[in-house]
Amino acid sequence: MGGNRKRMIVTEDLTKVYGDGVMVRALSGVNLEVACGEFLIVTGPSGSGKSTLLNLIGTLDEPTAGRVWVDGMEVSTLRGNQLADFRREHIGFIFQLFNLVPVFSALENVMLPLIPYRRQCAFDLRARAHELLEVVGLEKRAHHLPAQLSGGEQQRVAIARALVNEPDIVLADEPTGNLDSRTGAEIVALLRRLNEVREVTTVLATHDATIAHEADRVVRLKDGSLVSL
Ligand SMILES: Nc1ncnc2c1ncn2[C@@H]1O[C@H](COP(=O)(O)OP(=O)(O)OP(=O)(O)O)[C@@H](O)[C@H]1O
Ligand SMILES: [Mg+2]
Repeated sequence: MGGNRKRMIVTEDLTKVYGDGVMVRALSGVNLEVACGEFLIVTGPSGSGKSTLLNLIGTLDEPTAGRVWVDGMEVSTLRGNQLADFRREHIGFIFQLFNLVPVFSALENVMLPLIPYRRQCAFDLRARAHELLEVVGLEKRAHHLPAQLSGGEQQRVAIARALVNEPDIVLADEPTGNLDSRTGAEIVALLRRLNEVREVTTVLATHDATIAHEADRVVRLKDGSLVSL
């Protein structure tokens, strides 16, 4: 990582071993630094540890060994409510299967992460969700249910949802995995634009080498370790 840009994410010897019978070493001593505002793509074959890495950075899972810092805070020490607060304040997640709630409209899905906190919000949550749907080009679909939207549209709703808390970091795990290549390229271009305009540090995991050109940097995992490209 060049220059003296502030580091948004640092991992130190990050290791994850799953299972107590048959041990799977999903991640093995990963040292990674991501600068503020960087757009990083993590590639590697199926099973190489991409999702594990993103889940550990986003505190969805706990490391077996090693440490993770986000914005200078060591997140591997957070527990219980601190974890939920940390995720709500810093992280936006985007998943391969969109993970929208089927009985809620696009607008409600975008509002969802902050609905329990809406009384504490210093802004109008519904208005912000409308704005974000506009940002992703879906203002006319606000009251549609997920099943009434195309895959690409559902992923754009999920992107708007990931941004509703104005996160420092967006973690996108195979966000194009369920889309055709053209729609996938549009989604990556949208994430790139949001990264640039909103200065949101973005880590995107994919095994699709064709989207690598959108990144500031590409790293590759193999059998749980970073390898040179
Ligand atoms: N909860 C779990 N319990 C046991 N093993 C797991 C668990 N989650 C992942 N693994 C194993 O850890 C390894 C890394 O998995 P991971 O999901 O991080 O890979 P990936 O690079 O994201 O793969 P893909 O491209 O298929 O999504 C795999 O061998 C997987 O089988
Ligand atoms: Mg994965």
